[in-house]
Amino acid sequence: MSVWAILAAAGTGERLGLDRPKAFAPLNDRPLVTEPIERLDASEWIEGIVIAAPPGWEEPCILVAEEVAAGKVAKAVTGGETRAESVRAALAEVPDEATVVLVHDAARPLITDEVVERVIAALPDGWDGAVPTLPIADTVKRVDGESVAETLDRETLVTAQTPQAFVAPALRGAFSTLQDSGTKSTDCASLVEGNGGRVRAVEGDPRLLKVTTPADLELVASWL
Ligand code: CTP
Ligand code: MG
Repeated sequence: MSVWAILAAAGTGERLGLDRPKAFAPLNDRPLVTEPIERLDASEWIEGIVIAAPPGWEEPCILVAEEVAAGKVAKAVTGGETRAESVRAALAEVPDEATVVLVHDAARPLITDEVVERVIAALPDGWDGAVPTLPIADTVKRVDGESVAETLDRETLVTAQTPQAFVAPALRGAFSTLQDSGTKSTDCASLVEGNGGRVRAVEGDPRLLKVTTPADLELVASWL
């Protein structure tokens, strides 16, 4: 098995509201993207890493990788307008030998080897992908504007995180048939599901919180 990782780091971080992309937000004095680069590089599961960088920030991504001696980083490609387009650009640089592709959001800095192992180990037995999930504590309602339309059964719902692991042909197949509507998807599993793939839900990790707001950044910094 040869596992390659894609680090989706090309977002602007509009909700974080800084003067630079979220990947370069300061997380305890280092650019945020340093943390997941270092952690993916240290994982025994991972052979190589391709970063999808914010346009114009490809070189700084490589410099960050060099600073922490992350020798597995093969390339930083220019990201796209949407997350799916960024992952598509990075996937094109993943070598054909890769049998499993792990896709991770740079915005979730605290990736652990336990969760990497969990999603990869979940793939045998004919699954096309595996995603870390968390149960939902609150009551969940579907709303139409300010009117509550219905209350959903929380027991059958989870939230999905990254890293997400995929059998390489399943992920490549999902991208090769990607329609315009799919480019708005917020994770890769939804593309594989939409292409008829079987995706397995495994246990996630609350510390894989996605940094979205300044408060999230503070919280993740406090966990480091
Ligand atoms: N991402 C990406 N390319 C894009 C958009 C997002 O690689 N065109 C990545 C982000 O860098 C992030 C992950 O996808 O690691 C999840 O996206 P999100 O949290 O929404 O980050 P941003 O899009 O940067 O934030 P915002 O939506 O607030 O602008
Ligand atoms: Mg976004």
